[in-house]
Amino acid sequence: MTAKLKVALAKGDGIGPEIMLATLDLFAAAGVLDHVEFVPVEMGASVFAAGNSRGMTDEAVRTVEEHGLLFKGPMETPKGGGGKSINVTARKLWGAFANVRRFRSLPGVETVYSRAGVPVDFTIVRENIEDTYGGIEHRVSNDTMQCKRIITAPGSDQVHRFTFQTARRLGVRLVHCGHKANIMKLTDGLFLDRFRALAREFPDLETKDVIIDALCMELVVRPQNFKLVVLPNLQGDIVSDLAAGLVGGLGFAPSANIGLHISIFEAVHGTAPDIAGKGIANPTSLILSGIMLLQHIGLVRQAARIENALLRSLEDGVRTGDFGRKDTPALGTREFVAQVVARLGRQPSTGAVPDTGSERVTLVRSPRPSTQVVMRTFSKIVKHVVGCDVYIDEAISAMELADQLNRLCADAPFRLTMISNRGTQIWPTGSVYTECVDYFRARFELRPGFEPGRFGQGPVIALLDRITERFAVTCFELLRTFDGTPGYSLAQGQ
Ligand code: NAI
Repeated sequence: MTAKLKVALAKGDGIGPEIMLATLDLFAAAGVLDHVEFVPVEMGASVFAAGNSRGMTDEAVRTVEEHGLLFKGPMETPKGGGGKSINVTARKLWGAFANVRRFRSLPGVETVYSRAGVPVDFTIVRENIEDTYGGIEHRVSNDTMQCKRIITAPGSDQVHRFTFQTARRLGVRLVHCGHKANIMKLTDGLFLDRFRALAREFPDLETKDVIIDALCMELVVRPQNFKLVVLPNLQGDIVSDLAAGLVGGLGFAPSANIGLHISIFEAVHGTAPDIAGKGIANPTSLILSGIMLLQHIGLVRQAARIENALLRSLEDGVRTGDFGRKDTPALGTREFVAQVVARLGRQPSTGAVPDTGSERVTLVRSPRPSTQVVMRTFSKIVKHVVGCDVYIDEAISAMELADQLNRLCADAPFRLTMISNRGTQIWPTGSVYTECVDYFRARFELRPGFEPGRFGQGPVIALLDRITERFAVTCFELLRTFDGTPGYSLAQGQ
């Protein structure tokens, strides 16, 4: 017999151990443990409590990196005290760049859509690393906090390529990209551009883009029109929970975080501290996440057996206290799973998963990288410095700020062309109705007669040096053209 595939297993906090042990019972009954060995790792509340701010022991990190797969229960995020969410840390640390969640009407789970006979079955792929989740935040004046939002071409390419490959694997023909590129033209614009660029590699698929607000409305009004939607991180986070609401709540949404080397499978809901230890938690989300793990590693038939038994159980009215018809008794976690085990080999009357395909581990791991990789989409682009945006912490009027800055840049190759406040232009033209705060952006651009490409950063730094003698400059951004195209947006009203 071939060696078993090792998968790191973190039971989680709160209801985590209860739903994890029940899920493992089900896996054992379905023959999964003939192929997989779960290796326990220490993560979560107890590790935080021992003073480890990452929430996972070094041994746990080593085990996950060695085996490349983590199956985890929900984990508590410590409030305050510098401890970060393990879930976010794990996804980012190990490059699990695509968060995949499937949302579908399940038998026995009543929703407004199931009552109206509207079938819901779609998948959201959320970019998992970038966006505001970089957590790059600063206080830049007394009254202003700032968060840097990072969207990259290689990061977008990874998630879009994965989405299109997923569409082919699932037999889905239509892929939507949600975005806000009408407002965030550079960041969301890049995410959308790369969606369109990658789509050209998948001519068999139909692609559409949809602005995020319209997407939310459409998902609620006509969820049946969507099959697969790819989204940037924060928008994906919000829309995924909206989607969970369409199918009966977070307890029914599984989640996989897929990376090139390491993938993490977890329930979407939290640790449910209000019911922890009572043995009444609903294990469905974790079971469904486990099914995604089995499909990922190649145990497709075992996954189908478990899924059919689960669907059949739900159809038969098997339920925990948080859902289902109140005229059937609510079961505890273990009794619920015992009912699913009893139905292994049976199928639901509708929506049965074909019991075909691989029943052995087929996952082949990519070789371990010897160093951190710098991913690149574009190279050989000609970049020219054409100015800079200088951010100033000062409660001052726009006219006075302009006066002083004009004097400070008098002998620089740059001239002051615009001042904005909270992204709205207030100088040289603006409206008296624009309310300002104590944080300004001053834009300097090359004076007429100075061609782009004549300077590097030197004159910008010299200008900054002059400005910092008078003002607190909290940051600056180079203004550059990339193959002649400005790499910066205009201010609102500019
Ligand atoms: P929660 O999802 O734990 O609970 C919200 C409500 O849903 C509660 O009433 C709870 O009893 C119920 N609920 C959740 N899962 C259930 C299940 N399987 N069966 C029956 N009822 C269930 O969200 P909350 O209270 O905001 O977060 C609690 C903790 O969980 C926090 O520390 C949070 O940071 C963490 N969390 C962890 C996640 C993860 O590990 N992936 C995800 C979300 C939250």
